[in-house]
Amino acid sequence: MDKIRIIGGNRLTGKIQISGAKNAALPLMAASLLTEDTLKLSNVPYLADIVTMANLLAQHGTNISFSASAQEFGKNMSLSSQYINNFTAPYDLVRTMRASVLVLGALLARFGQAKVSLPGGCAIGTRPIDLHLKALELMGAHIELAEGYVHAHTHGRLKGSEINFEKISVGATENILMAASLAEGVTVLRNAAREPEVCDLAYCLQKMGAKIEGIGTDTIRITGVEKLHGCDYSVVPDRIEAGSFAAAAAITGGDVELIGARMEHMQAVAEKFTDAGVEMYETERGVRVIAKERIQCIDIITQPYPGFPTDMQAQMMALLCVADGASMITETIFENRYMHVPELTRMGAKIVVHGSSAMIRGEEELVGAEVMATDLRASLSLVIAALAARGETVIHRVYHLDRGYERLEEKLSACGARIERISERPTRPFSLTEAA
Ligand code: UD1
Repeated sequence: MDKIRIIGGNRLTGKIQISGAKNAALPLMAASLLTEDTLKLSNVPYLADIVTMANLLAQHGTNISFSASAQEFGKNMSLSSQYINNFTAPYDLVRTMRASVLVLGALLARFGQAKVSLPGGCAIGTRPIDLHLKALELMGAHIELAEGYVHAHTHGRLKGSEINFEKISVGATENILMAASLAEGVTVLRNAAREPEVCDLAYCLQKMGAKIEGIGTDTIRITGVEKLHGCDYSVVPDRIEAGSFAAAAAITGGDVELIGARMEHMQAVAEKFTDAGVEMYETERGVRVIAKERIQCIDIITQPYPGFPTDMQAQMMALLCVADGASMITETIFENRYMHVPELTRMGAKIVVHGSSAMIRGEEELVGAEVMATDLRASLSLVIAALAARGETVIHRVYHLDRGYERLEEKLSACGARIERISERPTRPFSLTEAA
């Protein structure tokens, strides 16, 4: 298994190209199941999760091809779901990536049937899919749970319906957006998720011929159509990757421009950086982050968008480990998202967790250690801490990083970080051609 070795202490300066958002690309890929035409996506990040989704779609019968994009990063992806011959999303794929459940709404809406493995537990909590299933039932789907699978079918088209989500869910909003686009009649989603990635899916569906109003609000109205068509669509830049690099720059007292980052998607995060004494402002090409002074302590509560994202919690915690004073983080989205705490503690951080809150007492410095990546964002918190720590840090199990950060070592080392991958294999652990 690959490791990452970092020698801390170098100030990050320069430019980092922000990739397309993984969490937008995954549902967009699933949306190709809604049409027999070709969906052409650009700015698709080169990541293990994207390959998993491509493999899942390929086994349903989707024809996928990749090509290098004109940009330095990202790929163009062409998906044709004309001949879908398998409606099962198997355990092996859903287990490795929960976003696989996003094929459920699309398969059911276009083909009237789907069999999708229940995702099961994951490192950051139980993460059920009850909201997805209840909404599909309200739309007339028959759903049974048997042998670890969701068996869903409909007679005729799904029916438009009023759906009040009892909790805000990104995945459920996306699944039902796709299902409702091909349903008969009008579907109204209340308490819908408003994340930029949800909006990206909705805009792409509109380009495919869907009738959607209220994008970016908590009430979305979808008037179902009989058919959708193909389109060209460019994946939105990754606000979480941008925020992660902002934290990396800040912890080193750096000055980095995040090329392509969209300030309007980062408001809650930018506010917290500003409160912590880090300058963050919009430039013509993206967002610039400058840290001149010691980080100040702040309090953070994670919330659905436009609140502070849970996907930035671990990275911000790493930054606050060296703040002047004590900070408090409260995690309200996932119940078990402090897996990075014992690892940061190994690097000298002073963190106490009480239920859903963590108190971080800022230290003058962190010290390099051997640590273990536990999930995607937790892994990046270790990278951030290591960039500022005295001495050498070795991060084990970096396959978590490969799920969500494109060319991480390359991007950071171009800004002056001393970071290298210690590979036990001569090439990267996944290949996009595998999935084609
Ligand atoms: C998506 C993101 C993930 C992010 C999360 C919250 C993708 C691929 N992943 O995950 O990176 O951390 O949003 O911003 O986009 N819940 C239920 N029942 C359900 C569905 C969800 O109780 O049927 C709960 C979850 O356990 C969690 C909360 O709702 O506590 C939010 O989850 P959700 O927004 O659905 O997250 P994902 O879509 O899985």
